[in-house]
Amino acid sequence: MAHINDFVTLDREGVVAILTADNPPVNALSHGLRVGLLDGLTQAVADPALKAIVLICAGRTFVAGADISEFGKAPRAPGLHDIVAAIEASAKPVIAAIHGTALGGGLELALACHYRIAVRSARFGLPEVKLGLLPGGGGTQRLPRLVGIAKAMAMITTGDMIGADEAKEIGLIDEIVAGDLRAGAVAFAEKAAARAKPPLVRDRDEKILAARANPGVFDEFRKTHGRRWRGQMAPNHIMKCLEAAVNLPFDQGIAEERRLFQELLASDQSKAQRYFFFAEREAAKIPGLTPDTKPVEIKTVAVIGAGTMGGGITMNFANAGIPVTLIEQDQKNLDRGLGVIRRNYENTAARGGLAADDIEKRMALIEPSLKIEDVAGADLIIEAVYENMGLKKEIFQKLDKLARKGAILATNTSALNIDEIAAVASRPESVIGLHFFSPANVMRLLEIVRAAKTADWVVATSMAVARKISKVAVLVGVCDGFVGNRIMRARGMQSERLLIEGALPQQIDKVLVDFGFPMGPYAVTDMGGGIELGWRRRQEIGAKNFIGDSLAERGRFGQKAGKGFYHYEPGSRAPLPDPEVEEIIKEASRREGVDRRAIPDQEIFERLIYPMINEAAKILEERKALRASDIDVIWVYGYGWPLWRGGPMFYADLVGLKKIRDRMLELEKQHGSLFKPAPLIERLVAEDKGIAAYKAAA
Ligand code: 3HC
Ligand code: NAI
Repeated sequence: MAHINDFVTLDREGVVAILTADNPPVNALSHGLRVGLLDGLTQAVADPALKAIVLICAGRTFVAGADISEFGKAPRAPGLHDIVAAIEASAKPVIAAIHGTALGGGLELALACHYRIAVRSARFGLPEVKLGLLPGGGGTQRLPRLVGIAKAMAMITTGDMIGADEAKEIGLIDEIVAGDLRAGAVAFAEKAAARAKPPLVRDRDEKILAARANPGVFDEFRKTHGRRWRGQMAPNHIMKCLEAAVNLPFDQGIAEERRLFQELLASDQSKAQRYFFFAEREAAKIPGLTPDTKPVEIKTVAVIGAGTMGGGITMNFANAGIPVTLIEQDQKNLDRGLGVIRRNYENTAARGGLAADDIEKRMALIEPSLKIEDVAGADLIIEAVYENMGLKKEIFQKLDKLARKGAILATNTSALNIDEIAAVASRPESVIGLHFFSPANVMRLLEIVRAAKTADWVVATSMAVARKISKVAVLVGVCDGFVGNRIMRARGMQSERLLIEGALPQQIDKVLVDFGFPMGPYAVTDMGGGIELGWRRRQEIGAKNFIGDSLAERGRFGQKAGKGFYHYEPGSRAPLPDPEVEEIIKEASRREGVDRRAIPDQEIFERLIYPMINEAAKILEERKALRASDIDVIWVYGYGWPLWRGGPMFYADLVGLKKIRDRMLELEKQHGSLFKPAPLIERLVAEDKGIAAYKAAA
């Protein structure tokens, strides 16, 4: 075996060269790996005793793409194009032998090879769009030649992976290897060496000619999917590349791909998405945990309360194959909760997202119960009863007595003080907040709320369990609203002031939708029933809010009622402006003696977004979040902040923290203390630093 460099070895098995890439954890195509691959290929090609070359990877996966951390730095030769050119120039067949995930530049490498073979568990994708990029190693030109334009458009604009069976069926790979990949690859290579090489993918034109005969295919695809790409550059650039693949000679298509790739690489959108890629992964790391803190395995779960949240939470565990005991206070609520769960599964199955017998398998993992004593066997207990401190304390006192030693006692409260809940238990170190978002079976975000006495192993286990049920977990501290809702409240307060000063819900919603949010806050409130929830909460604590109360008193409870901040035609979810709402808002202005004025969109935008940034800074000062980037993860996964804008902290740096601070000082004079810059913002501005990289001490 010859060591080409630290990342690549060259083995020989008879006439077959085996070039092995080894760059843990995911064999990203970093500079060292590129150097090794090119050198190794050159040596294998030059050796007359070798007749075929296998390109294979050590570790958990085939090459999972370019090294994302190298983007934005000065490029270093050789590039992926140089390796691709060397493969295509080889007189000997080159075979990509794939396991794990062949992604991005990794799949592009494979596309340049003469053959691709893979184990059945392998997956394939061009996920560059998720980084605000396009496949820049020839993927937009080669993939449609191999699999046809329709499949290429679907794969590259979504970035989603496909499995080996599908890859074989559509012509992306040549063979599925049943046993050992390396042995299978050597056998395949020996046969390949004995026959004529197939044409390179770049020279296969039959699927391109078929696409040329149907020029309407691009517009059709844009019509169906374009709405999802609103505001984003990458999917539109990808479509241009695919049009070039069909309409231009190969080399010109490649040149177009390179030009558009460079444009995306330099864009703020891709910077935001690359930043976010690492932000999401960093959120999973908890500083300060002792190295011997190991997560405990969660084999069984109990959920208390089968309402909106309890039902969704239960589904998460059943989906992951973990048995759940679902406990209710009476049969009626239990039946209703189970019915909702079953209907959700049936709807998913009807849309093709679940096999019919999986519905029964998942339902069988859910053990309904009316006895709280049934928590006794659970490793993790999640309370999701009404939001009422007295009730939660009562439940936690019972859990303290009934739960087995070493069980985690979690609450899904959205706003109550978890320290106060934990204090009723003799084991407060076992108590933690698991703040799921609604609908809990759909929303990816999970705020894990660490209380004052929560033990490290409880934190570590909660983070591990979140990953198991496919949630994106972010650790936060106890404060009013935790992190996400606390920031949303700061925005909501300004939003209400804007209504009173002269804006209407549709104008405020439009400003945020134009920025990239999927929906505006008032449309969201109508969808989620927030008018009624807020009204009931105010009644409990004796508070008032003129606009909210007036809407509720008129039965304007949101979409379900056909009216809320908007009017809804029967059977439609399209929000329509409503004169009755306008009248209520104008009455609110009159009551406050405010002369309504036309408020420019830019002012609306700044007054909505800057208080969020300011509140986030306060949260960081209070160490309720570990790092600024965690706040971005929360807002992207929990609140619809457009991923391609990175999150509120990334956005603050993009605008410039100093510019925001200066504008806040002006707004403070007109609109009060909500705009008084947080001391952390003042400090960072004085030090000429941004906020997105800020880390609160552990
Ligand atoms: N570059 C640099 N680092 C990468 C990386 C990449 N392409 N892919 C993963 N990593 C790092 C992660 O940051 C993480 O580091 P950490 O342990 O220090 O936090 C580590 O590898 C493991 O990653 P995950 O935690 O994500 O591991 P998983 O097992 O959950 O997932 C994966 C593995 C599916 C490969 C996932 O990491 C992934 O999707 N990676 C990105 C793949 C990608 O986007 N490729 C395209 C890159 S762009 C490109 O190729 C351009 C080309 O067209 C020119
Ligand atoms: P819900 O009213 O839909 O459900 C609560 C369920 O708890 C009801 O089915 C009720 O019968 C049951 N219950 C009440 N007392 C019980 C007892 N002693 N034993 C067993 N079951 C009992 O309420 P929802 O919306 O599911 O909220 C639950 C918790 O989740 C609350 O703390 C809420 O603040 C929190 N939350 C709610 C979110 C939402 O959007 N609805 C989002 C995040 C958290």
